[in-house]
Amino acid sequence: MNFQDEIKRRRTFAIISHPDAGKTTLTEKLLLFGGAIHVAGAVKSNKIKKTATSDWMEIEKQRGISVATSVMGFDYKDYKINILDTPGHQDFAEDTFRTLTAVDSVIIVIDAAKGVEAQTRKLMEVCRMRKTPVIVFVNKMDREGKDPFDLLDEIEAELSIHVRPLSWPINIGQRFKGVYNLFEHKLDLYTPSKQTITQSIAFDDIHHPDLEKHIGTDDSIKLREDLTLIDGVYSAFDTHPYLAGEVAPVFFGSALNNFGVKELLDCFVQIAPSPRPVQAIEREVRPEEESFSGFVFKIHANMDPNHRSCIAFVKICSGKFERNVNYKHVRHNKLLRFSSPTAFMAQKKEVVDEAYPGDIVGLPDTGNFKIGDSLTSGEDIHFKGLPSFSPEMFKYIENADPMKSKQLNKGIDQLMDEGVAQLFIHQNNGRKIIGTVGQLQFEVIQYRLLHEYGAQSQWEPISLYKACWIESDDKEELDNFKRRKFQYMAVDKDGRDVFLADSSYILQMAQNDFKHIRFHFTSEF
Ligand code: G4P
Repeated sequence: MNFQDEIKRRRTFAIISHPDAGKTTLTEKLLLFGGAIHVAGAVKSNKIKKTATSDWMEIEKQRGISVATSVMGFDYKDYKINILDTPGHQDFAEDTFRTLTAVDSVIIVIDAAKGVEAQTRKLMEVCRMRKTPVIVFVNKMDREGKDPFDLLDEIEAELSIHVRPLSWPINIGQRFKGVYNLFEHKLDLYTPSKQTITQSIAFDDIHHPDLEKHIGTDDSIKLREDLTLIDGVYSAFDTHPYLAGEVAPVFFGSALNNFGVKELLDCFVQIAPSPRPVQAIEREVRPEEESFSGFVFKIHANMDPNHRSCIAFVKICSGKFERNVNYKHVRHNKLLRFSSPTAFMAQKKEVVDEAYPGDIVGLPDTGNFKIGDSLTSGEDIHFKGLPSFSPEMFKYIENADPMKSKQLNKGIDQLMDEGVAQLFIHQNNGRKIIGTVGQLQFEVIQYRLLHEYGAQSQWEPISLYKACWIESDDKEELDNFKRRKFQYMAVDKDGRDVFLADSSYILQMAQNDFKHIRFHFTSEF
């Protein structure tokens, strides 16, 4: 197969959902269809149970599992599918945001009874920012849930995206009979079973009297009415607005019962984008370019505390990646060669000789890489789009063992490079502040500093509302701001100015008083 065809057949995506909507179950069913696994239950949920926030065994287990399931690659029909796993626990949301920078599209799973939930809303914001094409899978149709039209309205309103149903449910819960597949014009009949897959009947003409035979008179009348309404309300499906991230096709099904999953996958491979051009600071990088380029979107530390080796996950943006070839680490301006890059196929990690745009390779690393680094055939390319979000919780980190300050500093630096949390250095007192999105991250950091670096640390409270990155074209005003707000100023680990507002009032005042300063809540602008 030639290079261009290899690119065209790749589909790299992530499944995102609010915890418990069915992401793990759907992932597993997709892997089953791809033949990547053979029994249900093979994919372990990488969720840390909500009750076990202090259970270190759970966290270590999670870290172990998440290497294995970080990328799940498999072949389906003529396509090469790469599913990028995202952590289920919301305290690791930052990790999920970064993973979203490495995918070309997204499937959002929504629980039919719960509708759009908080985490889905947040993740969708990232997709919208990046114009990532999304498909929605409304799961758990075998349970009582919301009216499908209400659900579509809710998705449109809450996720700020237009929708277009590509399948339509026939009843719900106990009376769920299946869906009409609007994409392939088929009637997919439901039998509650984890073993069998959907029974599909070609059904072009919805007014054909056979419909009554399959789903009964009442449901036939209702289905015909619903479909007429859909045609009246929603524009015909068109791939362009989907690919532009403006319209989300919606499917209904039940992942647990294997229903609607194959249909989702069949449509997905047809309409979802193959690797797309990636914007770098210097220029747009197209996948079909011959020179290799890629960026690190995730770093996974080794579980073995005696070896500080990591795996850097690189998304290939252009060209072919080859084993034992020298590539340029752009930030360090040095050549690196990898003798054992790994790829992830069918849940196995194996050494690969080559990989293509859209693929993820795992590169063994001993501290060379940090999140966002680029690797190229020689060109200086810096990829954009790995945003840091303003954290939601802040604490001072203090050394608890004066003999180990070197270890502590090294540990903090490396964990931050790994993207575990964000570091700010207070300009007023030089103290280090760690910002996270959840309490669990503080616990993980303290634990890892001790176990991997032998450094004891302790947390001290700091009352902050938001950290925002500031910039201005008016240098004088910026300098004036920094002088006036000195006690609120910090720098992030890349030396950028950050304003630490301790209340929304202080932030508002600052925004009012300094009109020429831009306040950013993500570090990419
Ligand atoms: P997540 O990764 O999004 O957090 O969700 P996960 O797949 O783990 O699913 C959450 C729960 O919902 C699981 O039940 C799972 O079995 C159930 N589930 C998933 N899809 C469906 C569906 O189509 N219908 C119904 N009725 N349930 C579904 P659990 O009891 O939390 O876990 P388990 O003990 O079954 O593993």
